[in-house]
Amino acid sequence: MHRRAVLAFALLPLAAGARPLAEIRRSGKLRIATEGAFAPFNYFDQGRLTGFEVELAQLVAKKMGLALEWKTLGFDGLLTGLGQDRWDVVIASHGITEERAKAVSFMAPHYCSGGLVVARDPKIRRARDLAGRTVAVQTGTTYLEQVKKLVPPPRDVKNFPTDVDARAALVTGRVDAWVSDRFVALETLQKNPQLKLKAGELLFTERIAAAAAKGNLPLVEAWNKTLAALMADGSYAALSRRWFGEDVRCT
Ligand code: ARG
Repeated sequence: MHRRAVLAFALLPLAAGARPLAEIRRSGKLRIATEGAFAPFNYFDQGRLTGFEVELAQLVAKKMGLALEWKTLGFDGLLTGLGQDRWDVVIASHGITEERAKAVSFMAPHYCSGGLVVARDPKIRRARDLAGRTVAVQTGTTYLEQVKKLVPPPRDVKNFPTDVDARAALVTGRVDAWVSDRFVALETLQKNPQLKLKAGELLFTERIAAAAAKGNLPLVEAWNKTLAALMADGSYAALSRRWFGEDVRCT
């Protein structure tokens, strides 16, 4: 990047270094990051990145006339990378929270969901059934935050770098329950009946959105306008039904 361009960016009211929309358009490429370990939203299928969020981002970018440049990395580093101008957008099933909104600017929500209790023991279904139990959750998630707040509290909340690891802890009997996204959990149950896992209740609900660097509002507005158009013209509904058999937008 030229010296002068760097200086010009520094004068804009953006998180240090975030690329303004005009610069993204000039490059023709939107740099976008996700985790790639959260099926059916963002995951690798035989080495290919796919999922509802990956395909939704593809639709948005296409309509904006941009190509996508994907990066995948651990969930923990995704939002931080926005402030460091390592990518323009993150789409990885982030629930909109006050805490996160201090650090990034959220797009309009692209689906609504919540944290579901999953266990082997059919008696472990509700928030109060987690009291005195051991619960597995992915590090850095709203599931961790919410499970830690429960009164009476679980005996232990174990953190795992990926949601897949948190689930494995339940499957191998190292914990009593796993809290994860409702759709992630339901797909796991449906695809793996032999695991004999039971879906309990929703602990909380959340609105899920992609994010941009704090203050990159022209990018947020362009994304939102495009997402709204896809929601209005039937493309979002078709994509959602293909992945979930239902429309998962927030109502
Ligand atoms: N919805 C939860 C949150 O906002 C979990 C997101 C996990 N995403 C992922 N790609 N593993 O924290």
